[in-house]
Amino acid sequence: MAATDLRFVTLSAALGGLLFGYDTAVISGAIGNLTEYFSLSAAQTGWAISSALVGCLIGAFVSDFCSDRLGRKKSMLIAALLFLACSIGTAVPETFSMFVIFRIIGGIGVGIASMVVPMYIAEIAPADKRGELVAYNQLAIVIGIVVVYFVNYFIAVQGDAAWNLNMGWRLMFASEAIPSVLYLVLVLFIPESPRWLLQKGREAESIAVLEKFNNKENVAYLVADISSSLHVSSEKPWKALLEPQLRLALVVGIGLSIFQQVTGINAILYYAPEIFKSFGSDVNASLLETSLLGLVNLVFTIISIRLVDKIGRKPLLNIGSVGMLVSLIVVGYSLQHQIAGSWLLGFLMLFMASFSISWGPVVWVLLAEIFPNRIRSLALSISVFIQWGANFAVSQSFPMLVQDKVLQERFHGGFPFVIFAGFAMMALVFVWKLVPETKKMTLEEMDAMWEKRKLK
Ligand code: GLC
Repeated sequence: MAATDLRFVTLSAALGGLLFGYDTAVISGAIGNLTEYFSLSAAQTGWAISSALVGCLIGAFVSDFCSDRLGRKKSMLIAALLFLACSIGTAVPETFSMFVIFRIIGGIGVGIASMVVPMYIAEIAPADKRGELVAYNQLAIVIGIVVVYFVNYFIAVQGDAAWNLNMGWRLMFASEAIPSVLYLVLVLFIPESPRWLLQKGREAESIAVLEKFNNKENVAYLVADISSSLHVSSEKPWKALLEPQLRLALVVGIGLSIFQQVTGINAILYYAPEIFKSFGSDVNASLLETSLLGLVNLVFTIISIRLVDKIGRKPLLNIGSVGMLVSLIVVGYSLQHQIAGSWLLGFLMLFMASFSISWGPVVWVLLAEIFPNRIRSLALSISVFIQWGANFAVSQSFPMLVQDKVLQERFHGGFPFVIFAGFAMMALVFVWKLVPETKKMTLEEMDAMWEKRKLK
């Protein structure tokens, strides 16, 4: 009974991840008609896309306040309302500025959900299943991306060009209302995080939740452990972050966030059709290849869910970094020496498989679990904020690096891949030197682990 409950709670929370993927990818199918409808300049088209990322940054920034003061559950409700507002507002905007405002509002929802959902799942899960359950959040993100590609396609084939110009793109944005309402309703039924409840002195409620998801005989021990971890220091969380061992934890969280992004995943996801065209594919083939990439993302995320609590976080990160490194070097070198062909598709698939089995899910798992209870909300909010910043920097600079005249002459579009490969190499060293293995540890054991690492 408890196990099914746990799965229901996890999947309900993870719908926030699905909306994360849906909201960030819905624009891909709508952008063409939107540009024509509002007669947008190139800069405005770019803004239509990146305004959501600005919202994500704002959302990540306020997420600590929401999750710490209001609680994890209310924060997820706020995110659901923001998604709903965004889907309605972007479907019927009077002007382009109104459209941008509602994209930012949706982005704030994504920013909050991207921080609160993995944290909530980590806080509710028993230690031995935590990796698997938090990784469901990444699975939901990937499903959101893939589903919206199909929804966009399904809507686009319903009418002719004129219908698509006036109606199609509106329906694409409006379709997000369905998962948003579902999320709003489901979150109402899930319990608050037991760790947050205890932090707020609501012991009886916390015990009731812990008893649902853990062996009854362990609960007293867990409550004592959580309480003591919350009272290790009376410092405010931002002051505690300056303690040497917690500083190290923050460096690891920020490093994981940065490396997940600067190895190129979102440049490849956002610009996949263009990249395939540079390998020699035509338009239709490039769209098909892009959906194949989505499928690989999905399959390898599922494999990662099966492995993360068995073989651990670090081995997965290492396997993934090596696979990403090899594929990036081959793609970068082949483009630079103009020997690129459609066989390179295989290497982008290798890149995608390597990312999806490792840095995609595992970074969210680690971010949600490595920070001790007393600083989790703040430290996670900082790491996720930096992750969205890195995402913004990579996706903005990628087309510039590809098109730059001097770089184009020398590298023929291969330059960004060389940079991503350099970061993949650094990521390997970073994991080897700094990232701890946290498989099967309880959240309360994180304090002692950082203390030990400091002494080393
Ligand atoms: C991870 C990344 C996100 C990326 C996604 C792709 O969730 O954090 O930026 O879009 O993986 O699968």
